[in-house]
Amino acid sequence: MQAQQSPARHFLSLLDLSGDELRTVILHAIEVKEKLKSGIRHTPLSGKVMAMIFEKSSTRTRVSFETGMSQLGGHAMFLSPRDIQLGRGEPIEDSARVISSMVDIIMIRTFGHERLQTVADASTVPVINGLTDKLHPCQLLADMQTWFELRGDIQGATVAWIGDGNNMCHSYINAARQLGFHLKIACPAGYEPDADVVEPARDQVKIYNDASAAAKQADLVVTDVWASMGQEEEQQQREQAFANFQVNSSLMQLANQDALFMHCLPAHRDEEVSASVIDGKQSVVWQEAENRLHAQKSLVEFLVNGSF
Ligand code: CP
Ligand code: NVA
Repeated sequence: MQAQQSPARHFLSLLDLSGDELRTVILHAIEVKEKLKSGIRHTPLSGKVMAMIFEKSSTRTRVSFETGMSQLGGHAMFLSPRDIQLGRGEPIEDSARVISSMVDIIMIRTFGHERLQTVADASTVPVINGLTDKLHPCQLLADMQTWFELRGDIQGATVAWIGDGNNMCHSYINAARQLGFHLKIACPAGYEPDADVVEPARDQVKIYNDASAAAKQADLVVTDVWASMGQEEEQQQREQAFANFQVNSSLMQLANQDALFMHCLPAHRDEEVSASVIDGKQSVVWQEAENRLHAQKSLVEFLVNGSF
């Protein structure tokens, strides 16, 4: 195994990379995608291994990292707490220390953000946040790549976030800070994003309790499920609270005419988004989902090799 730079560079949040670095990763992702589509092999991570720890379910994150590592010439290992000693009470910092002594990079999807931080603190190799209750930065790389492909740089654009002030919303706030776009957030009262995330971004972010106010003149409209993983018991109560926050054709009409629609998926049709919108002409959700693969390949190459 090649010696790592010390300390390892982690990707726990979009704030871990500068705006310039994020742009470099996004633009490299577009190149890596073009190479793949043209049948040109790109294997800068030959012999490198990623450990993927999933404490929550996943389709896109698992498939994209596993496929991505293989395409880069490396290998990804899926670790579920059901099968490893972590699930039988081995401290996560001990698990991280041991795993990081054998692999080149770790990806973890977990609940509390502090658990991710514990892994990063104990790891001698880069750690990627594959989603916590607080943040989902890998999804933002894919969303931003999709925007860059279709519209160019996002600086100065207006994005509307409609729905829960959740991990995705927090990551949009961080992206607005790092990439310089305006973010209008509409949430029901009591479901706003956390103040510690909003406060440092107050020049970029405006919060409304009315979906129409946020959607007006937006260039991009984004939503997510009303009950995230771990909130299943709140589903009914949330359906009531979010009833006026569905992204449907009438709401999309308030946005700019060429506005795009994104959703990280999985989606609940006719709940947070109408079928007419997610399956309609403005929706770019399939390109967005595919870009998880390309954006994360670029990220992993950047973290493991330190440059492109
Ligand atoms: N968007 C996303 O992270 O999907 P998965 O939960 O399927 O990984
Ligand atoms: N907010 C959602 C995102 C899923 C990719 C969740 O945390 O469940």
